[in-house]
Amino acid sequence: MNQIPQHIYLCGFMGSGKTTVGKLLAEKLGYKFVDTDQFIEKNEKTTIRDIFENSGETQFRKLENRVIKQIAVSEENTVIALGGGSLMRKANLKLIKTSGYLIYLNADRHTIAARLQADTARPLLQRASLDTLFKQRKPGYETASLIMKTRDQSPAEIVQHILHHFSRLNKK
Ligand code: S3P
Repeated sequence: MNQIPQHIYLCGFMGSGKTTVGKLLAEKLGYKFVDTDQFIEKNEKTTIRDIFENSGETQFRKLENRVIKQIAVSEENTVIALGGGSLMRKANLKLIKTSGYLIYLNADRHTIAARLQADTARPLLQRASLDTLFKQRKPGYETASLIMKTRDQSPAEIVQHILHHFSRLNKK
């Protein structure tokens, strides 16, 4: 590889810092930033919680797949923060892998649990335990080309590591 990938996808469990890190990474690279959940909320003029409540998870997953399809074919340089369950669909994973570079922000359980405590905006947490959901999602996350343990690192440090990783790839 001799340049930074055009689409950089960030995956990881809810509360792992994808949006914060993604925004900062996009800023550093001069890339556009898209958070798929925020994109859906803006398009649908409602919240993720309401979509789950009123239309169900299946409808949410359709919307999520539609956004990923749109991003995958776009020509713009973009950093994308993916929803924590988006890789459960094989079709999404394929689109992501063929259109860009996937990075897993692997936050430790303690940090995630603390961040998600009392969270009511994430509907799945009202129905299933964090550990059950994480177990289902982990295999998808681990297909990433870069797995970053984010423990004890600030968003700025994580971004530095990612940039360093790309500069090393470019030298190869
Ligand atoms: C979900 C994660 C959420 C959001 C939705 C479902 C999941 O995104 O897409 O509530 O299935 O893990 P974040 O990971 O950005 O919180």
